Amino acid sequence: MNYNCNCSRTNYSDRNYTYWENREITSDEFEIINFLEKSYDLRTKSILHIGIGNSFFAKKFFKNQIFGITISQKEIDLAYSLRLSNYKVFLCDKYSLNFKEKLNNISFDLIVDTNLKSYSCCQDSFNFYMENLFYKLKKNGTLITSKNGMNWYKNLKPKLSFNLKNFFHFKLKEVEGNKENVLSENELKSLAKQFNLEFSFDDKLCYLKK
Ligand SMILES: C[S@@+](CC[C@H](N)C(=O)[O-])C[C@H]1O[C@@H](n2cnc3c(N)ncnc32)[C@H](O)[C@@H]1O
Repeated sequence: MNYNCNCSRTNYSDRNYTYWENREITSDEFEIINFLEKSYDLRTKSILHIGIGNSFFAKKFFKNQIFGITISQKEIDLAYSLRLSNYKVFLCDKYSLNFKEKLNNISFDLIVDTNLKSYSCCQDSFNFYMENLFYKLKKNGTLITSKNGMNWYKNLKPKLSFNLKNFFHFKLKEVEGNKENVLSENELKSLAKQFNLEFSFDDKLCYLKK
């Protein structure tokens, strides 16, 4: 994958990395799902889900057209094993130049990313991602993220691992990341202003509307 910065990065497409496919959905994303179920009209809405994890989100909203992005091939394998007809997933680093191309000509009513900044290598790549993400929102579309998720700053390192189910395999191991990847409400608010989006929040979530 190609980047707009010179940071050294893992090439996620060179191995079948395992990451979140066998782990529980985060409570942060669960809050987003709760909100969508209770207070959001999802009829005919197309959704972009960044960081598909165990695809719990896609199973919940299987009637919607959902596109998912991840850096873990094993998460993709799990996603396709579910055989959800409206669900398409792509192996792609959201901070890379390839992100916009992957979803060429597709825009969305709703974008969900629980950890917008956590995994970014530098401020430039984060800004670049946000610009691309906003571009993918339809008019009146909304990006939703989690306030708790904004406090994450994990980094992922490839590691050769062993267990009885997968024998030797490569996994993405969480290591301490860059504290500057904690995304403040103020930073998100000023991005919203810069891109002419309406910013709002409640005690758990932040919303940016086009
Ligand atoms: C902590 S897991 C959370 C999974 C799910 N969103 C949840 O909240 O339960 C983070 C997710 O983001 C994905 N991810 C991490 N860095 C990414 C990147 N640079 N580009 C795309 N996806 C990424 C991982 O593959 C994983 O699906």
